[in-house]
Amino acid sequence: QAALPPNHTIRALRSGDYERGFLQVLEVLTEVGNHTKEEWLERFDYIKRHNHEYFTIVITDDVKDRVVAAGTVFVERKFVHKNGLVGHIEDIAVDASQQGKKLGLRIIHALMHIGAKRGCYKVILDCSAKNIPFYEKCGFTQKEYEMAWYV
Ligand code: ACO
Repeated sequence: QAALPPNHTIRALRSGDYERGFLQVLEVLTEVGNHTKEEWLERFDYIKRHNHEYFTIVITDDVKDRVVAAGTVFVERKFVHKNGLVGHIEDIAVDASQQGKKLGLRIIHALMHIGAKRGCYKVILDCSAKNIPFYEKCGFTQKEYEMAWYV
């Protein structure tokens, strides 16, 4: 397992990460929107109330007091596999200036560990073709196809 750079921490999302630039880090993924603090807290509080099935983690640069990487695993409850659990990895983002330093790998390995500890029989994710080599390096293998319907 790759070590974190000095003065970096991996931990669960905190409400104060609004000020540490968590939402700005997500901008490498897609449009995020300008959340007021109240809008942020609405979603943060929901995730916190559901902290047995939503796990959002971050890596912080503790010198700059900024979030530099983030990711989520969501635990789905199934009937198949005898009430089996499936982990869904979502919204993996590393600040553009910090990519290529193994922060993404650390986030994915931590989310895989959380999924396994929660009892998931598999952890899955959707990604673009260009990110396949990254996820393969994290230990994933390609399977099936993604389908989407936008409302
Ligand atoms: N192609 C080939 N190899 C890659 C790629 C790539 N696109 N990206 C990373 N790798 C390799 C690295 O070279 C490294 O290999 P090594 O161990 O042999 O040196 C290994 O994968 C680990 O790379 P990291 O340094 O951990 O990658 P990084 O911290 O940059 O995180 C990530 C990768 C998350 C894709 C980041 O670049 C990023 O945020 N990109 C923009 C947003 C994005 O695409 N997020 C993923 C969306 S899919 C989802 O959320 C489920």
